Amino acid sequence: MITLIINIKELLQVRETSISKVSGAEMAILPTIKNAFLVIKDNLITDFGSMNNLPKINADKTIDATGKMVLPSWCDSHTHIVYAGNREQEFVDRINGLTYEEIANRGGGILNSAKKLNESTEEEIYDQSKARLEEIMRLGTGAVEIKSGYGLTVDGELKMLRVIQRLAQNYSITIKATFLGAHAFPLEYKENHQGYIDVIINKMLPEIAKNKLADFIDVFCETGYFTVPETEQIMEAGIRFGLKPKIHVNQFNSIGGIQAGIKHYALSVDHLEVMTTEDINALKNTETMPVALPSCSYFLSIPYTPAREMIAAGLPLALATDYNPGSTPSGNMNFVVATACIKMKMTPEEAINAATINGASAMGILETHGSVTIGKKANLIITKPIPSYYQLPYAFGSNLIDAVLIEGEIFE
Ligand code: NIG
Ligand code: FE
Repeated sequence: MITLIINIKELLQVRETSISKVSGAEMAILPTIKNAFLVIKDNLITDFGSMNNLPKINADKTIDATGKMVLPSWCDSHTHIVYAGNREQEFVDRINGLTYEEIANRGGGILNSAKKLNESTEEEIYDQSKARLEEIMRLGTGAVEIKSGYGLTVDGELKMLRVIQRLAQNYSITIKATFLGAHAFPLEYKENHQGYIDVIINKMLPEIAKNKLADFIDVFCETGYFTVPETEQIMEAGIRFGLKPKIHVNQFNSIGGIQAGIKHYALSVDHLEVMTTEDINALKNTETMPVALPSCSYFLSIPYTPAREMIAAGLPLALATDYNPGSTPSGNMNFVVATACIKMKMTPEEAINAATINGASAMGILETHGSVTIGKKANLIITKPIPSYYQLPYAFGSNLIDAVLIEGEIFE
């Protein structure tokens, strides 16, 4: 099956051979081709270029993209879309003056979602989660990482990871699974942290590894959650079971989680709302991708990741949604890109790089995703007719997506 897209007003994120992330000043450059064509064979990009060099091909299907942009689909490297129910009451409680921390301290927050999840059947969780997955695919996401972490019991965590596995089997979008058993301490382990860590290491991890249910291991390293030594212990156990770390750090406090992640070759360190100069310096010349989650900052009214300082220090930056019921009930990468420009002062080029190629890097899928490159998956967004790609962050409330292709097929 050959699909040809012609008359593309501008083809974005064109990288000839690149399989590397972009950092610092390079983030300001978004390579494009104006008046372009693109060829898809089966599920892969097999050719692209200027319309002046359009080859003669017998296409099975031709899409005319006159006036439209084509770009690689968003790579959302941090989500928690498998969950049960919602936390809209906590949202209203916060409007009425309670803080996220106060809600968590009285047994709400992550523990509230864990209760709901453990009371739900696997089928119920699958049905709710697949609706969220389809929603984000229609919003242009073509690769997504999904975490466990609302089970906090052996059964609950395995149930979540099986749901993620089933989503990956039933949908053509690329899905990476992350084990986040260390998301919070269950109430019965409040005074016995090592007891729960032992459950993670001795009960959960062996089952997960045996059934190949996860690619990565995550820990919420934060005051009131997992300390740095606890985080290190869990990362080390995950690594022994073949899971690379990808961790939650510096959401509310800088306590050394970034340095611990780097020490354990974390693929990414995520959140980063609170960054010290030492934290920024520690990330220099490492393979660890910093990931910002601006819609979490927006929803919780907490600081935004200091993107300008980080990019000026030569660091790369990725953008992701953090879609979850507590801190970010939204999986809209278009909003993330716009918010990064509006609130973090990233340029449109930087934000698009952060949401595509660097997002792919934060999921370890640079060879197949994140840019328009021959041999990469044909996971693409075709926009509505727009004057320039600046519209994407500028018209922040509009749906500018005309069509989404996943593995070369239009996803309706
Ligand atoms: O990334 N910070 C930790 N975990 C999630 C939120 C969890 C929740 O409130 O349910 C996050 O923001
Ligand atoms: Fe998160």
